[in-house]
Amino acid sequence: MEILRLENIHKNFGVHHVHKGVSFALNKGESIGLLGGSGTGKSVLLRSIIGLERIDSGNILFHNERIDHLTEDQLKDFRIKISYSFQSGALFDSINVFENIAYPLREHTKLTEHEISIKIKDMLKLIDLEGKEHLMPSDLSGGMQKRVGMARAMILDPEIVLYDEPTAGLDPQNTLNVVSIMQQLKARGLSSIFVTHDIPSALSLCDRILILHQGKIIFNDSPLQFQFSSDPEVKKFFIS
Ligand SMILES: Nc1ncnc2c1ncn2[C@@H]1O[C@H](COP(=O)(O)OP(=O)(O)O)[C@@H](O)[C@H]1O
Ligand SMILES: [Mg+2]
Repeated sequence: MEILRLENIHKNFGVHHVHKGVSFALNKGESIGLLGGSGTGKSVLLRSIIGLERIDSGNILFHNERIDHLTEDQLKDFRIKISYSFQSGALFDSINVFENIAYPLREHTKLTEHEISIKIKDMLKLIDLEGKEHLMPSDLSGGMQKRVGMARAMILDPEIVLYDEPTAGLDPQNTLNVVSIMQQLKARGLSSIFVTHDIPSALSLCDRILILHQGKIIFNDSPLQFQFSSDPEVKKFFIS
């Protein structure tokens, strides 16, 4: 079942045409790997989906309804359903791990303390930080902070998560930890778009690979087709 569709998206910054007719769809439970050189407009595309950037033309549909014209107020509700996991995922320094993850629940739901603590426990297990709820962000390693940031982005049970280079700058072990969390969330039915330069991680998680090049999607096929493609623009991703 299709849950998100981008149709002929165009986006300019002045004379700079970043998107020149981007189209693709995301199905329920699916993970799409979105590749592309630096500055090709991957982050702008993710930001456009949740209305942090306004597209110049084209349609964005969520469950077959246009979302590219939503007002700021409507977008607030909607950003619970599509979560954007920021590159940095900065935590609040002055509150502990529990309160960092609980923050969106307190902002957006009327759950009881007991219900909140059950959800936080489940999340801590998922990110492999059980028993660490009372630590402050400064007590955590960079990799652990990253996982807490992911937990906070997932705590409202979004339908789609947009990951913007979640493994960038991480060492191999922390990269594996992050991808393992993404895999577990996928197993729970979460759909995602995974922007990355990390080809092995994309291949281990994604059902489909897309390549953004010169404002258009020039490749949209299975990981297998991606690996055996003879297209020079596709092969470039293996040489690097
Ligand atoms: N707010 C902005 N104003 C002007 N240009 C921007 C803005 N945001 C992004 N750009 C430009 O759009 C292009 C795509 O940016 P981005 O989506 O961040 O690339 P990437 O694929 O590396 O994530 C870049 O050339 C960038 O300089
Ligand atoms: Mg980017």
